[in-house]
Parts: sequence; C-alpha cells; structure tokens
Amino acid sequence: MVHKSELIRILKERCSDLEVSIDPALLETHGCDWTRFRKPRPAAVVFPRSIEQVAKLVGVAAELHFPLVPSGGRTGLSGGAIAGAGELVVSFDRMRRILDFNAVDRSLTVEPGVVTQTVQEYALQQNLYYPISFAAEGSSQIGGNIATNAGGIRVLRYGLTRDWVAGLKVIDGRGELIECNSGLVKNASGYDFRHLFIGSEGTLGLVVEATLRLTDIPPPSRVMLLAVTGLEAMMQVFRSFNDALTLTAFEFLSDNALRQVRQGHNLPAPMDADSPFYALLEFESANEQQEELGLQCFEQCLDDGTVVDGVMSQSEAQAADLWRYREGISEAITPFTPYKNDLSVRVSAVPAYLDGLDRLVKTHYPNFEVLWYGHIGDGNLHMNILKPEEMTVEAFESACGQVNPEIFALTREYQGSISAEHGIGLLKQAYLGYSRSEVDIDRMRAIKAVFDPYKIMNPGKLLG
Ligand code: MLT
Ligand code: ZN
Repeated sequence: MVHKSELIRILKERCSDLEVSIDPALLETHGCDWTRFRKPRPAAVVFPRSIEQVAKLVGVAAELHFPLVPSGGRTGLSGGAIAGAGELVVSFDRMRRILDFNAVDRSLTVEPGVVTQTVQEYALQQNLYYPISFAAEGSSQIGGNIATNAGGIRVLRYGLTRDWVAGLKVIDGRGELIECNSGLVKNASGYDFRHLFIGSEGTLGLVVEATLRLTDIPPPSRVMLLAVTGLEAMMQVFRSFNDALTLTAFEFLSDNALRQVRQGHNLPAPMDADSPFYALLEFESANEQQEELGLQCFEQCLDDGTVVDGVMSQSEAQAADLWRYREGISEAITPFTPYKNDLSVRVSAVPAYLDGLDRLVKTHYPNFEVLWYGHIGDGNLHMNILKPEEMTVEAFESACGQVNPEIFALTREYQGSISAEHGIGLLKQAYLGYSRSEVDIDRMRAIKAVFDPYKIMNPGKLLG
C-alpha cells in the first residue's frame, strides 16, 4: 500500500477535480459509523460529485491496490463503514441529487447520497409512497440502504430495500460501470447482478445511482401498544391481528427497554399495567369496520389473558407518540455503548428461541442489563447489552463476545441468521460460518474475486 502522502499526491494529479480532505475532524466523523467499538483511522476522505469521478477514483485505487471504504449516512451498527486501517473513505455527501421521477413507471432515480427520508417525502409529494422506514431514516443514505439491504419496521408488509430497487448503477472494484436492470419490471436475460450488489456491504462495488420503485400511499392506519403477558402470548396476539387485519408493523420491546426509552426521552407511562413485554402494532384502518375489527382483536386478547392492557392511537400525532416508545429505544441506550446482536429465526420459532437465548444470557451475563426489542413480526430480535459505567469499552466488548459462540450455535440450531438486518460488517465477520456454509462462503469469495480482483472494496468487512 502506498503511503498516504503519496496517495494524495497521485489523486491530486490524476483526479484533479476530486475533493480530497485530510481534516482531522472529518477523518473522525467520516471514518466510522454508529458502532462504538472501533476507532476510525482513514488516510483521507474523498467527495466525488459524479459517476465519472467515482470510476476514475476507483481505477486509480485499483492500480495502487489502495483500499476504499464507502461512506453514506454512517448509521450502520456492524462497523461496515469503519475505516480503521488507513483506508481511503469515499463519501457520497456530494451526490445527493434526485435525477428523475417517472409517473408512469412509478420510479425515482437518485444519486446514492440522497437521504432515505428525502426519498419518502419526494414520493409523497408525487402522491406515491416509498415504504422502507426505520429510526435512522433522517440521516441514512440510499446507497448505504442498498449496500446493507436495509429492513426496518414495515418489512412485514412491504419487504426489504431489495424489493424496491428496480435499477442500479455500480462502479465495481475494477473501476468499471455495471448497469443493472435499467428499471425494468421484467427482464429474463440472465444473471441479475442487482441482487448481488444489494446487501454486499460495499465489498463488490460502489452504488452510484439507483432507480427505486414507488407504490400507492397506504390507507390510514391505527397504532396499538399492548402489554403482553409473555412470548407465547406475543405470538398468539400476532396471529390474531395478522389473521384479521392487514398489519403494517408488529414490533416488540421488553419491560426494561420501555424503562430505558422513557428515561432517555422523558416519556410518560403509556398505560397503567406493567408487563414483561409490549407489542407495538400498526394496522391498515381504511374504514370503521377495520377499526372495529382491531378493537375486537384487542378485546379477545384481553379475554384470553394474552394482553392485560393497551392503548390505541386516535390521530396521526398519537400514532407518532406511540411509535416513540419503540423507535426511540436505540437512541436512548446509545450512552450505554450497547453491545448489539441482531438475530433472526422463523417467526414461529421466536418464543422457543428467545427462551433459549434468555437462559444463555442470564447464565453468562448475570451482572449486565440485557434488553430486547425488535421486529418480532419478521422474526428479527435485537439483543442489547448495556455497558456498566465502570467498565472499559474493550473489557466490555471482550466479555460480551465470549458468549457469541453459544448464541450463534443456538441460532444455527434454529437455522436462523446471526445478522437479520444490520449486516456482518467488521463486528460479526468472524462468525459468518454460523449462518453460511463453507460452500456458500467459498462461492462468495469467488464472486468477490470477479468484481474486486485487487481486494480494494471495503476489505476486512463481511468476508474478512
Ligand atoms: C432498530 O430496530 O431500532 C434498529 O435496528 C436499531 C437498533 O437495533 O438499535
Ligand atoms: Zn431494527
């Protein structure tokens, strides 16, 4: 690897119109994501403004075998955007244009640095809807959403980012432009590279343009927060509502997650009763019958003892207030440097799996506070361990990591995933074998070698 001063000299010479920064404050902010367990140490940060600039830059990096780390909104939680080993960070902050809206195709073509929420708002202005939604949507960027196949709270109804990408332009590790699918609905002309790049965590190429699908604005919805007596009960509640109504979200949180979010955001108690778990659900309620059906499900759950209390939103403002109890958790616990595991199993396996996990956690982490929340309607659980104030980050990470083999072995027993939606990144890379077979990993490496023969695309992430 050439020295960083040499790299900067070459970039100034060969990519003369490219913005390059070595400002220490920028290196610190742009060299990492929301992960708190690694220190950023990039050589420099570059801010391309066009596809041509990205292609030229990657061409130079390929020639020099100089590693690149893509950087979007940096809201990731697995260290996928950490530049901890002198890499060059490629930020998409200057590629934030909406390039095209097509009302007939119902598609929106954007540069990778466009913020997720901007896409949602633009779609609404066109009387359409972009359904991918999560707490970090105000800062996360579309390029990063695609690189991690972002999920969030409405996957149950609308699927993942993958389902909304109709076309993609990528600069691969050879510096060449790959155009995928051109926004087509049907295209049976061979391998669809689009789906290789989606979720590849920047290890195959850099997303430089995306065409997103939009859909109808959903009907009005109601949100309920329910005090649920246990996990088996949670599944029964899910089943009742899912069978009777169109659910757009079904989330859960543990009692201590509720306590933390209330403390962190100064929120009032949402209801009188206490429960070990709470369900936050949202259902389409286009008319009075659907609202009535929602209330009937609630009554039924009270009668059969799965739910002991609950509240339902009567307005959009109340719905947003209820969502705060779920969406505010991540931010509320950030000061505790949480150690996160983002796990998934099939929905029907959640109670038994979570029970097993809880036992493991209670045996191995008796002195740590562990809280649970997540997208239970998708089988996706977020386990968060809070760092005791007196412990160093290093000692805490090492203590938490020691239990990972058992957690992941249990996950494998259920044929689950060690990363449901946050990605493998840097933090889970050593454990990939718990979710993917040797053959899988071997083929992934072979694919990487095709698109990134010089190993410059986000090295050390995903495949190590
Ligand atoms: C969430 O569901 O809140 C996000 O995935 C963030 C997190 O897990 O902390
Ligand atoms: Zn999540």
